[in-house]
Amino acid sequence: MEARAPMPCACAERVAGGADAADTCAVIVAGGSGERFGDPRGKQFVELAGLPLMCWSVMAFDRAPSVARIVIVCAPERSAEVERDVLSRLTLAKPVELAPSGPTRQDSVRSGLERVPRDLPLVAVHDAARPLVEVEQIEEVVGVVRADASLAGAILATRSVDTLKLVEGTTIVATPDRSFYWAAQTPQVFRTARLVAAHKTAVRDEYQGTDDASLVERLGGRVRVVESTRDNIKVTVPEDLAIAEAALGRRLLC
Ligand code: CTP
Ligand code: MG
Repeated sequence: MEARAPMPCACAERVAGGADAADTCAVIVAGGSGERFGDPRGKQFVELAGLPLMCWSVMAFDRAPSVARIVIVCAPERSAEVERDVLSRLTLAKPVELAPSGPTRQDSVRSGLERVPRDLPLVAVHDAARPLVEVEQIEEVVGVVRADASLAGAILATRSVDTLKLVEGTTIVATPDRSFYWAAQTPQVFRTARLVAAHKTAVRDEYQGTDDASLVERLGGRVRVVESTRDNIKVTVPEDLAIAEAALGRRLLC
């Protein structure tokens, strides 16, 4: 399938993008090795609907009216590939900068944060492995943080649909009330200063979280969930690619 790189300036979202100035820096983390996916190219570079997978999230953030600039975090030895196979194939309206990834996702986010201008009050951290994120979702999460000064951040998440079991070894020890459980996704949007401080403290405490919200929460920051769709999957194992391809195909037909 031939790649379709939309002209951002012709986008409905941009035209409709209202009164709020672009006040958000996107940090898209694409520096993982994709071990569970298993493709030697790395899952962020495999083809999805005619483009390297990571292109789809970069395009979504480029089209989001709240986003002023984009930082892509990738392995330093793959930055030429990102320039050639991602950036030069897209017509992007926002300034894009590359930052070197680290050994863990948390290190990669911290590296990306170093490139975030401190005069941009909000930062939106996103997994490059979530190609199905929609402009409207980005705008909703940013809007929630903007609208409530008591929030340190907000994240996309889905309600747990499965009954959850607390298991020790292979024995169930509890069945918690699933209505209290949500599955965290990205983007996760924070006040820039709060996320930078949370990462600094995590380094000091040698704390490794599995997402950015957990770093902010442990400092007492209030973080809200914004209900997402199950479409916004993280491509993790090879079967996920077919799911993403089908969802993107449906969307492109609309
Ligand atoms: N990521 C990153 N730097 C790392 C590890 C992960 O930038 N050191 C990014 C991945 O590229 C991905 C996102 O964080 O976009 C979510 O991570 P995950 O889905 O776990 O991707 P990988 O770490 O690449 O996959 P795996 O855990 O299977 O190796
Ligand atoms: Mg990983």
